[in-house]
Amino acid sequence: MEVVGAEEDAAMAALRERLAAGGQDHVLRFWPELDGAARRALAAELCHMDVAEINRFFRRARGDGGGAVAVAGLDARMEPVPRDVLGSASRDRGLVPRWESRGLAEIAGNRVAALLLAGGQGTRLGVPYPKGMCDVGLPSRKTLFHLQAQRLRRLQQMAEEQHGTACHIPWYIMTSGRTMESTKEFFQKHRYFGLKKENVIFFQQGMLPALGFDGKILLEEKGKIAMAPDGNGGLYRALGSHGIVDDMEQRGVQSVHVYCVDNILVKVADPRFIGFCLEKGADCGAKVVEKTNPTEPVGVVCRVDGVYQVVEYSEISLATAQRRGSDGRLLFNAGNIANHYFTTAFLKDVVNTYEPQLQHHVAEKKIPHVDITTGQLIQPEKPNGIKMEKFVFDIFQFSNLKDANDLPIQCEISPLVSYGGEGLEKYVKDREFRTPLIIDEDGIHELLKNGM
Ligand code: UD1
Repeated sequence: MEVVGAEEDAAMAALRERLAAGGQDHVLRFWPELDGAARRALAAELCHMDVAEINRFFRRARGDGGGAVAVAGLDARMEPVPRDVLGSASRDRGLVPRWESRGLAEIAGNRVAALLLAGGQGTRLGVPYPKGMCDVGLPSRKTLFHLQAQRLRRLQQMAEEQHGTACHIPWYIMTSGRTMESTKEFFQKHRYFGLKKENVIFFQQGMLPALGFDGKILLEEKGKIAMAPDGNGGLYRALGSHGIVDDMEQRGVQSVHVYCVDNILVKVADPRFIGFCLEKGADCGAKVVEKTNPTEPVGVVCRVDGVYQVVEYSEISLATAQRRGSDGRLLFNAGNIANHYFTTAFLKDVVNTYEPQLQHHVAEKKIPHVDITTGQLIQPEKPNGIKMEKFVFDIFQFSNLKDANDLPIQCEISPLVSYGGEGLEKYVKDREFRTPLIIDEDGIHELLKNGM
């Protein structure tokens, strides 16, 4: 808020009143102690904040008014995904080439986009920068962003080779207030890893304040609200507010592959997955991998009250996670690997109609905060408050979901050499190698022999 003199007084009075009306004026408790810059920063943060909406989110997320993310009783209402909506890259092996060529044709026609969810804070990974910038320990030292960009380049090339037309796959990258600048700088520094700048589109998701168990906004510092991104389901609000769906429509994009940043094996804009979803006429799809261990931290795709949804690992009870079918496999074994397919038309409906119906999930956390009475910074030893997040898969309930099983891969092959196993024969036929090795554009490098 850039205000001076009497105007400043009036604007502050209005802000104070709005905060008081929402029972949140304690956030100005240390105002008299703040210097000019800190006051301006806090006022700017607060004047964009819709306190009434935050209070409403809190009440709904906490279960008042029947809007809770009903974890209680969930077990009894969960059913596994019916087999007929599942495709499998291993069981339906014979169909895979057809799915792939359908997907490649869509890519060649410029009708496919990739959308990366990269707004998370990487707190569990313990790095102070966006996860995509992590060197994940590959011999080549490529980062996650680098690998994904190269996979996109290779896929464009494959589609071009098969269809004889130049094409591109727009890459939408969702960041948050905390990751936007560093992510953009990283891409600039690396010259977009060989992709065209105009086809890499950054946009920012929203943030929400952390709240105490009593619903009061927590302060990270005396003049700073404890803010966190509003979950990867913040995607849908951001798609609308930044005109991303419009951009997709203008580019003629009809299919979007949405995925998470931390998957080193991700097949970005996977033509098989896209082709499978197109063949099924699905507006929404989820790639799953069989969950084999009940406590594996993956959500499971299932039906709840007959409606598709992912029950997150933090929300399933151990007893339900341990249930097994007559074949001895886990009953709820459709492990979500956060690879989703959506049509642009479906995303548009979500943005325009369904988004406000999505409810926040509540995570109880240890949130460092300034004690309002003493002004001391507290590092809690047990959870003292909540973060509210929407989840990307919560829109499944509005769709006719299809699932596709994926197969894991194993060694470091440059994405520029092979997107998903194709074209390797010329490198490996009738030859023997000693691992570890890298296969890249320059050939095969046995790392032990070369001392890499
Ligand atoms: C996620 C899935 C889980 C799945 C697992 C598989 C969700 C909510 N959960 O869990 O069902 O089994 O992957 O690996 O999708 N992100 C944002 N903005 C945010 C928060 C997160 O963009 O506000 C992004 C992160 O950058 C990351 C992705 O969402 O790319 C996943 O977030 P994370 O919180 O790490 O979810 P997982 O616990 O891995």
